[in-house]
Amino acid sequence: MLIFYSLRALQYLLCFTRVLILCTQQMAKAFRYSAILLCVVLVLLISGSEQLQSSQGETLLRIQRLLNYPSSLSSWNSSIDFCNSEPNASVTVACYEKSITQLHIVGNKGTPLLPGNFSIDSFVTTVVGLPTLKVLTLVSLGLWGPLPGKIARLSSLEILNMSSNFLYDAIPQELSSLSGLQSLGLDDNMFAGKVPNWIGSLQVLSVLSLRKNMLNGSLPDSLSTLENLRVLALAHNYFKGEVPDLSSLTNLQVLDLEDNAFGPQFPQLGNKLVSLVLSRNKFRDGLPAEVTSYYQLQRLDLSNNTFVGPFPQSLLSLPSVTYLNIADNKFTGMLFENQSCSADLEFVDLSSNLMTGHMPNCLLQDSKKKALYAGNCLATGDQDQHPISICRNEALAVGILPQQKKRKPSKAIIAISVIGGIVGGIALVGLIFLAVRKVKSGKTIQKSTIRLIAENASTGYPTKLLSDARYISQTMKLGALGLPAYRTFSLEELEEATNNFDTSAFMGEGSQGQIYRGRLKDGSFVVIRCLKMKRSHGTHNFMHHIELISKLRHRHLVSALGHGFEYYLDDSSVSRIFLVFEYVPNGTLRSWISGNP
Ligand SMILES: *[C@@H]1O[C@H](CO)[C@@H](O)[C@H](O)[C@H]1NC(C)=O
Ligand SMILES: *[C@@H]1O[C@H](CO)[C@@H](O)[C@H](O)[C@H]1NC(C)=O
Ligand SMILES: *[C@@H]1O[C@H](CO)[C@@H](O)[C@H](O)[C@H]1NC(C)=O
Ligand SMILES: *[C@@H]1O[C@H](CO)[C@@H](O)[C@H](O)[C@H]1NC(C)=O
Ligand SMILES: *[C@@H]1O[C@H](CO)[C@@H](O)[C@H](O)[C@H]1NC(C)=O
Ligand SMILES: *[C@@H]1O[C@H](CO)[C@@H](O)[C@H](O)[C@H]1NC(C)=O
Repeated sequence: MLIFYSLRALQYLLCFTRVLILCTQQMAKAFRYSAILLCVVLVLLISGSEQLQSSQGETLLRIQRLLNYPSSLSSWNSSIDFCNSEPNASVTVACYEKSITQLHIVGNKGTPLLPGNFSIDSFVTTVVGLPTLKVLTLVSLGLWGPLPGKIARLSSLEILNMSSNFLYDAIPQELSSLSGLQSLGLDDNMFAGKVPNWIGSLQVLSVLSLRKNMLNGSLPDSLSTLENLRVLALAHNYFKGEVPDLSSLTNLQVLDLEDNAFGPQFPQLGNKLVSLVLSRNKFRDGLPAEVTSYYQLQRLDLSNNTFVGPFPQSLLSLPSVTYLNIADNKFTGMLFENQSCSADLEFVDLSSNLMTGHMPNCLLQDSKKKALYAGNCLATGDQDQHPISICRNEALAVGILPQQKKRKPSKAIIAISVIGGIVGGIALVGLIFLAVRKVKSGKTIQKSTIRLIAENASTGYPTKLLSDARYISQTMKLGALGLPAYRTFSLEELEEATNNFDTSAFMGEGSQGQIYRGRLKDGSFVVIRCLKMKRSHGTHNFMHHIELISKLRHRHLVSALGHGFEYYLDDSSVSRIFLVFEYVPNGTLRSWISGNP
């Protein structure tokens, strides 16, 4: 029995709040003596705990005043024993040797801005009066203003969470001196500018959470040196460009990049990921094979990008996967009924892709799994499906429309229909590429942080090339007489013309890129060829490129109307070239030449 009671005593030590109740219960029982002894010990323990330095208590009361007496701090007054007050979800004060080491204050969700007389500067000056703080949480308190760099005077900080306030301007550089910082949470504020390169100096950082701000630019390469990083959450900002190589971050478990403009390449990552969210970005290139080795992956969200290429079915059977969303992309591939699924899989969304075949039975026959798959070309008919021709893009690898293929003209005449035109266009592009490769001039183009030349019409191009869009509306009529003026197109314009490079606009895929059909604002139809550029092609030769394209137009070919560029944001080299050609849905080149469209 004595052993029993000493075991109980250990449990009591672990659970302070229950102790007194349990003690009184025990006292009523037979072994009063040991129980009373235990209670005496515990009472001594409690009364021996820290009494706060009075200056730190005053600091807390000043914080309460500067925060305009939020309701969560309503019980704070000058007679309160802060270090021994009961912690709860909204307020916690923890002390060590009479100094405050942790301060959490979480206001009500949606707390509005503090009044106009609030000064973030005096507030932070007050907070740094608690120099022993290791953990500081100031969430949903209506704090507003630029975060003063002097917050870094809290040199022992390990966790800083100032989410859901109205902090703006840049993230202060002084934070780089917080060498012990493990978690930085600034979600849901109005921070602007880039993620600074000095972030790499926070070598023990394990959580970096900057969701819902107004941050922009591309990510610094120094991120890839943060080997302790477990969580990187950058969703809902204005980031662009390629994600730096994160494959050295072997501890990375959560990567959330939702709703930015990252892309087009799939990020390079380690294989310990548990949650990977890339939805609503500009990722285009296919998935690397490594994805199927993410054995800890539970959540994968790739929705709303323009991913092309095969969807690896084995993702459905990754051992840990519970959520898989690839909706609204251009994933291709055939699904099989006999494909197996992970037992934990709960939600799968394959909607609006180019998948063919049959939905796997494991998704349809298990009521615990929810599967969405409308908008593909699947033979499983109970959600809206497209005709198979739309999805058969493998057949289009040579860059020929399937519908047009069926209507191939007789052998007698060389294909001079639209297909001919497109093929001609492609041949033309090939020529241009050959030509450009030969013309190796060292001429470099002006660097631009803006994605497209057309957005920045002053980049020194001949006005001929930048001429008015009005010409295009005349394309059809002018076709037989002369060619419309060549011009540049903005990426936005091309995205609009193709409904964001939508499946329905997709015509085919060649070795160097995809072909889309589009309709410009003025109603004219175009064919857009997207060519991926290697970085090594870099920032030179564009003038030649453009001049060649514009000169090589010939009436016997469907003529090039213009071009557009997309840039890599980190070094402004061109990532893709869009070549825009005329497109005549039902006409033939011959009728063009003869002037009877
Ligand atoms: C301080 O607050 C406690 C309750 O939280 C209250 O009992 C006490 O009277 C208050 N003291 C002063 C000086 O207001
Ligand atoms: C949490 O504790 C603080 C003071 O420690 C008190 O003012 C507040 O009312 C408490 N909140 C809840 C929800 O109990
Ligand atoms: C700020 O103004 C409010 C009234 O709008 C007032 O109650 C409060 O005391 C003022 N705070 C400071 C720090 O002056
Ligand atoms: C910051 O605190 C809020 C409220 O406690 C919490 O929901 C959020 O997860 C924290 N953020 C980080 C990065 O720890
Ligand atoms: C990024 O945001 C800053 C501050 O709002 C702005 O000055 C800058 O032009 C933006 N940069 C880009 C590339 O959009
Ligand atoms: C699944 O079915 C396809 C044809 O329907 C077959 O080629 C394949 O071998 C089958 N796979 C397994 C694992 O049974």
